[in-house]
Amino acid sequence: MQLFADTADTQLLAELNETGLIDGVTTNPTIIAKSGRNMFEVIAEICELIDGPISAEVAATDAPTMIKEGQKLAGIASNVVIKVPLTIEGLKATQVFAGEGLMTNVTLCFSLNQALLAAKAGATFVSPFVGRLDDQGADGMQLIRDIREVYDAYEFDTEILAASLRTAAHVGQAALAGANAATLPPQVFKDMFKHPLTDKGLETFLADWAKTGQSIL
Ligand code: E4P
Repeated sequence: MQLFADTADTQLLAELNETGLIDGVTTNPTIIAKSGRNMFEVIAEICELIDGPISAEVAATDAPTMIKEGQKLAGIASNVVIKVPLTIEGLKATQVFAGEGLMTNVTLCFSLNQALLAAKAGATFVSPFVGRLDDQGADGMQLIRDIREVYDAYEFDTEILAASLRTAAHVGQAALAGANAATLPPQVFKDMFKHPLTDKGLETFLADWAKTGQSIL
């Protein structure tokens, strides 16, 4: 299970990367806008920082322009993944990128049929948006399970990247549902480490250790 950070905050990314447990990064136009930085500069910096797939999203809506934008983004570094929306034009561009050996992340996936089309187009990753489906009263995690079942049945190589995750519990659920990767807001990644019994147990161990008067070093 790969864990990606869903942010373009390079300071936070550097901090998360120190754990040694971050496998890649995803961005989208909202995340780039939030960073307040030039897209090319920030993506280049992230690609240097994290040795893994870094998603950078196209802004055009027609395939010919998406292709030009994607090729330009892929020129930033060899670990750039071109992120395209799940539209007819996006999947036309995805097929061109696949033919050129460029990695893609087909985003804004909300249905099994959309995921099936993304896989047929040769997407490297498909991003089902769990939280946004839950917001609509649907079951986002069930979509991950359904995609897993169909991809396995038809032996599609496209990796399922669970996106729009809102809680640490979502991450474990996405793993159980068969996602290959999950992209997490920084706080959700930090929350994954936490359990009240770990804190309580450690407090007791440290107190008991102090009573021994011993030192390991
Ligand atoms: C990542 O690829 C997605 O753009 C992101 O996870 C969306 O998350 P949100 O629904 O919290 O905006």
